[in-house]
Amino acid sequence: MNDRARFQEVADTVLARTGHRPAVAMVLGSGLGPLAGAVEDADIIPYDDLPHWPKSTVPGHRGRLVAGRLEDQAVLVMQGRIHYYEGYSMAQVTLPVRVMHLMGIKTLFVTNAAGGLDKHFRTGDLMLITDHINLIGMVGEGNPLRGPNDDALGPRFPSMNRAYDRALQDLARRAAAQAGVPLREGVYICLSGPSFETPADIRMLRLWGADAVGMSTVPEVVVARHMNMRVLGISGITNVAIDSNEAEGAPNHEEVLEAGKQIAPRMEAILRGVLRML
Ligand code: HPA
Repeated sequence: MNDRARFQEVADTVLARTGHRPAVAMVLGSGLGPLAGAVEDADIIPYDDLPHWPKSTVPGHRGRLVAGRLEDQAVLVMQGRIHYYEGYSMAQVTLPVRVMHLMGIKTLFVTNAAGGLDKHFRTGDLMLITDHINLIGMVGEGNPLRGPNDDALGPRFPSMNRAYDRALQDLARRAAAQAGVPLREGVYICLSGPSFETPADIRMLRLWGADAVGMSTVPEVVVARHMNMRVLGISGITNVAIDSNEAEGAPNHEEVLEAGKQIAPRMEAILRGVLRML
């Protein structure tokens, strides 16, 4: 069975479990899973029920698909994502996006929890992702498109210009303004994790032009763009990066999840607003 046949098998399994025919998919990052509770007329499909689908192993990631309606749009929500640091291959990390495409989904909203690098960012801020730095994928095994290319899915050498759809960015700005939610903007950089960055790492990432740092999202976006899906990305800033060993404190997953709870309602307001305007 080739890869595409495997993706199709999963897509067919999902479509057999729900009458909804989603046009938009959403990936919910750490602490943002509760957003899935807003989906109406929901069909819930645990990852365990799906062939080939990796299991979610991280606290704060439920591990199920929720198909239903939100703001009168058919949506598919991934409540819990798959990360490279869990030990999965990049092909496994990005399998859900391949499946979404084969289900006929053309638009992907990706969210994540991220550390704020921009010195103006505060815990609880939301950041519209305007571009990314694919540090995880620049060398070695970390690019999900490494290996034989399936021309039926996308080109060998896809462009990553305007990876984050500009029209969707505009809708997000408008939705945020309408909801009265301040929305920062910036560049997201993806590292493999799971260890957090050293203060020296943080200073380097800033010099490289990154505004927020995390351990996800970019592989999914690369694969989505390979297949020409439209992408909207928003980070929730769950902690501000510590750039000196003189400073007290250290990042930890509990604070990430705690901040996620505060960020979730504002993330929901923006995503709902964009869905209404689609
Ligand atoms: N670094 C990396 N990933 C993260 C962080 C961070 O500070 N916060 C949330 N995800």
